[in-house]
Amino acid sequence: MSTPTRRVDAREKVTGAARYGADRTSPDLAHAVFAVSTIGKGRVVNVDTAAAEAVPGVLTVVTRIDPAELGSPGFLMGGGYGFQSLQPLTDDRIAYRGQPIALVVADTLVAATEAANLVRADYEPEPIATDLDDEGAETLVQEEAIPLPFLADIVVGDADAAFVKSPVRIEASFDLPRQHQVPMELIGGVVEWRGDTLVVHEGTQNAGALRGGLARQLGMDLAKIEVIAPYTGGGFGQKNSLQPHVGPLALAARRLGRPIKFVMPRTQTFHQASFRPASRHRVRLGADETGRMLAAVHEVDQQTSRHDLFPSMSTEITSRLYGIGDFRGRQRLVRTDVQTPGFMRAPFEHPAAFAFESAVDELAYAVGQDPVSLRLANDTDVDPVTGQPFSSRHLAECLRRGADMFGWAGRTHEPRSMRAADGSRIGWGVAAGVYPASLAPAVARVTATSEGKVTVGVDGHEMGQGIRTAITLLISEDLSIEVGDVTVYVGDTRVAPQHLTAGSWGTATALQAVHAALRELRKHLNVADSDPVDLGAAVAATGQTSVEVEATTIAPGQPPEIIEHSRAGLVSFAGPVYPGFVAFSFIAHFVEVRIEPTTRRIRVPRVVSVADCGRVASPVTAASQLRGAVVWGIGASLREESEVDPRFGGFANATLEEYPIPVNADIGEIEVGFVDEPDPMLNPVGVKGLGEVAMVGVAAAIANAVFHATGRRQRRLPIRIEDVL
Ligand code: MOS
Repeated sequence: MSTPTRRVDAREKVTGAARYGADRTSPDLAHAVFAVSTIGKGRVVNVDTAAAEAVPGVLTVVTRIDPAELGSPGFLMGGGYGFQSLQPLTDDRIAYRGQPIALVVADTLVAATEAANLVRADYEPEPIATDLDDEGAETLVQEEAIPLPFLADIVVGDADAAFVKSPVRIEASFDLPRQHQVPMELIGGVVEWRGDTLVVHEGTQNAGALRGGLARQLGMDLAKIEVIAPYTGGGFGQKNSLQPHVGPLALAARRLGRPIKFVMPRTQTFHQASFRPASRHRVRLGADETGRMLAAVHEVDQQTSRHDLFPSMSTEITSRLYGIGDFRGRQRLVRTDVQTPGFMRAPFEHPAAFAFESAVDELAYAVGQDPVSLRLANDTDVDPVTGQPFSSRHLAECLRRGADMFGWAGRTHEPRSMRAADGSRIGWGVAAGVYPASLAPAVARVTATSEGKVTVGVDGHEMGQGIRTAITLLISEDLSIEVGDVTVYVGDTRVAPQHLTAGSWGTATALQAVHAALRELRKHLNVADSDPVDLGAAVAATGQTSVEVEATTIAPGQPPEIIEHSRAGLVSFAGPVYPGFVAFSFIAHFVEVRIEPTTRRIRVPRVVSVADCGRVASPVTAASQLRGAVVWGIGASLREESEVDPRFGGFANATLEEYPIPVNADIGEIEVGFVDEPDPMLNPVGVKGLGEVAMVGVAAAIANAVFHATGRRQRRLPIRIEDVL
């Protein structure tokens, strides 16, 4: 047995052997490009395609598709498959700037691009509302607008009364910007027909939704659709659902009898896919003079589109951070003229923790307590919302170990009290994070051969987080075989149903299913679970050259029919309801900022983050995932904002030049640690989740460090030079 010090697919990835969706090619490949709306809302009254059609090599310009031919995919959060319910090109309505008005297909990408630029349209524009406070924006109370129990307000005790009675009261409002996921791999791929079977090669976190959604849109049998996505070049929530180009591409490919490649230009990914919506968080925190938290009220307004209600689950985590007896969380949704926003890494938890953990830091200063001690003193063993135990909770250990690694004891409490030799102000900040530990239904098919090799096909998507490595390690350790003797197929509807990989449930979900399949395999081979196995010999002893087993797993408390739901490509966001306990991952972040004396540029030379994600299934990729989340937290705090010109709608800085994300020069030392305690209550592999909790609290730790450096509280992100003058 060997433990790899690297990703199992590292060589494939760095040599270019890994095949992404758009790498698929074919001699008769055609290329597609969208022409998009230049108004923010209204109707298209005429589309002039004459100039586009005259471009040599253009095969077709599609401006309108009969809804009977291509229906709505339904909205992912509304029992459907699409990032939004709206299917462009099926009527004359323009709901947001950048919405497709024509699909051009040509022999070459150059011809398709040139032609798309020549498409002209006449519109009847209407007034738009793009921001929370804009005239015409419509505010709804989430609990009333979406009557689902898991989206209801969280109310424990009487927080408003307890807040008013609290001797120490902190009250603040925080504004969070729109942001975009910008994964390196652009959205897109190749759509082709093999006879009457539709084959889609596309980077995705949810091959099942592409399949299920296309079946619904095109009125096809699921069995006639294959989605193949062995690698996804970053998902981050953007690729969690069916995008609006795939259905029109399928129709065009069938009509033309050619496979079609479509790679969405970066600027269009800012408009044809989801984004992190703008949100405002009002936090009230009551405590006694010792810093014991007594009451909290967390109210959230979050942007959605006109056509879909993208819910907020912000207070699910802020109600779990500390043992607060009285808590009230309330979420409202604000309809604006945008494409439907959606999940973007730690979708609600990053903004929620920025607001709440900033308020907690303010409380520490109000009562003259060290921010780490205050957090430790308010830790809890019991879930304050349900009164149930946590499956595991090592937040205190994360805080203690992180403080130790960081050298927190060397900090002086007073703001503006630490300075570097070059005159830079130094600030040290801390914040905690929490994220639900979830599990999804999954099927794993394992084949073992008399040569001692194993192939597994399982529900899951490899989007860089290292799921293939984690699965390989589990099998290699369980069966005492070399890592190189394990082959893993994920993201492929031909090998197993593919449920959405998101919400940090991917690794735990796939490992639980593979673990169950390995138990089946051992039963088949007459090898007890705890016994060592000579795999090749055991398979040979059955008289066969190979043995194939299958296992299906669901989460505790999930209804068995959820598997059928999953086979259809649908997602149940209701999440598992665990019998008698709740489950969350935890983290603590420690940050040093330095603010240059003349430019006031904010640098982050040093971060220490310690996570409790249960057992660490793949140390190398887990550490990488945690570092990546810290980098993203730095971007989310100091760089990223999708800018809107309220006169026109859409997003103005929709390129990587103008949507600044951190580069190497922005990043200093990031030291990561793991508690690495298995959580056997949650699943037999002891794994919780890491991808999203890793980012939760980074922004607050940075803002708290900026306060420590400057004495100025930060109420909005990103923090800019003018905020620290
Ligand atoms: Mo994640 S934002 O749940 O893909």
